[in-house]
Amino acid sequence: MTKITYTSSSLDEESGARYEEALSTVERELLGKGYPMKIGGRDVLALEYEVRSPINMDIVVGRFQRGGRDEAVAALNSAVRAFDDWGRRDWRERAAIMRRVAEAVERRKFLIAAVMAYEVGKNRVEAVAEVNEALEAIRYYASLVEKEEGYVRRMAPGSPGEETWSVARPRGPWFVISPFNFPAMLGSGMVQGALITGNTVVWKPSEEASLTAHLMYEAYVEGGVPPGAINLLTGPGELYEDVIVGDRRVAGIAFTGSKDVGHHLYREFAARQPYPKPVVLETGSKNPTVVTAKADLAKAVEGVARAAFGYGGQKCSATSRLYVQEEVKDEFVEALAGYTRSLTVGDPRKDGVFMGPLINARAYTNFARNVQEGIAAGGRLVTGGRQLRDGWMSKGFYVEPTIMDGVPEGHYLFRDELFMPLLVVAPFRDLDDAIAKVNDTDYGLTAGIFSEDESEVREFMERVEFGVLYANRKGGATTGAWPGAQTFVGWKASGATGRGIGGPYYLFNFLQEQARTYVR
Ligand code: ALA
Repeated sequence: MTKITYTSSSLDEESGARYEEALSTVERELLGKGYPMKIGGRDVLALEYEVRSPINMDIVVGRFQRGGRDEAVAALNSAVRAFDDWGRRDWRERAAIMRRVAEAVERRKFLIAAVMAYEVGKNRVEAVAEVNEALEAIRYYASLVEKEEGYVRRMAPGSPGEETWSVARPRGPWFVISPFNFPAMLGSGMVQGALITGNTVVWKPSEEASLTAHLMYEAYVEGGVPPGAINLLTGPGELYEDVIVGDRRVAGIAFTGSKDVGHHLYREFAARQPYPKPVVLETGSKNPTVVTAKADLAKAVEGVARAAFGYGGQKCSATSRLYVQEEVKDEFVEALAGYTRSLTVGDPRKDGVFMGPLINARAYTNFARNVQEGIAAGGRLVTGGRQLRDGWMSKGFYVEPTIMDGVPEGHYLFRDELFMPLLVVAPFRDLDDAIAKVNDTDYGLTAGIFSEDESEVREFMERVEFGVLYANRKGGATTGAWPGAQTFVGWKASGATGRGIGGPYYLFNFLQEQARTYVR
């Protein structure tokens, strides 16, 4: 499937109609219901909690379960048992099942997209694109396994008479812990990687995105993944942490989310397991975009605005620091502010809405605090800065896309991942200066440059210490990686293995090589 980039916030007519229909189905059939956890194909109830929608807190998304140690152990037992069968199946069979999972996801595409509006406030275009991305990832991984023939290779004989093979074997049961912001793509992407390589999974999605995970879980089972090879726990991750890091039967952890939580799990897992085991991390970033005096400024305006404010700046790939060459800075920032003011903020279910609400009350409060801190540090609001509280909007977490200039570059607004539509801007002298600023962080996920000068772009690509680099991308300066095209790989504090999601080496995170010698 090729990626379709919409430059507006509307779907084509047919998709728009299917999305509207799905919204009604979600309202009628899914919202406000109780959802059990899934362990070995069984429904498991525990302590119930209610999740409300960030688009309007009067709407109850659903009632989910908070488990604890017992449920985590039961889910792990189930994954351990299922590994015996799933891990030994032929790679062709697993690839075929995963292709059927993609078909099952495709059948639910608009339903999943509509759920994402309620659950995480994603607009229709971004939500449909995300489901497309999730199913493209499944197909990409299936085609990789097929191309690599299950990672089985005949090797050279070590001594005369030997027949030697390299085979890749699954490791066992994994815990997969996924974030709210890409509940279909990133959560399910890790699950896909683990499953297609023969591992089994206990999936713990974000508390804020458990309904999307339920729909994806259904698609896995409908596609033919044995219940037990995939298990679903809900609620806060801390409830399960002791089992996740401490049970010696856990083969590995795949985590996407905040740096603090990811690095904590990494250390605890290393400390409590009997020997080192893999932890696949994608842990956010503080992504820069550079606009030089040789940029096509119109292209850069659109690319930066889309990357900074798409999905309210809540993408791990969002641009959150902007560096503009001194001589064009005022002109560029003014044009960017004009474009930003034209973006529609509102109910993400509605056609044409660019930016929905922030995910929760904490993010909403933090937004106001960060703006105040920026001003207190000497920053100036170029545009935005307000929470939107008029009428029905007061029931959700709506804020303006915001640009601040003049915040000192050492300030935490330039350093910390904030996950909100708050872009800070600073000038640079020359490309050396820009690259030094870009690299002055522990993070390293995505970075962008706008310049029509090829030598500037080449220099940037060679020297920037980030995993995903883009030049002159109008559709999103640092966002919109697509499986099989842009590997989504974090460097430094943004990742751990150097093999990113949607890329040719990702599956090897979940495999271990075995050398086999037969003397004939
Ligand atoms: N593919 C998503 C992006 O790059 C995660 O923004």
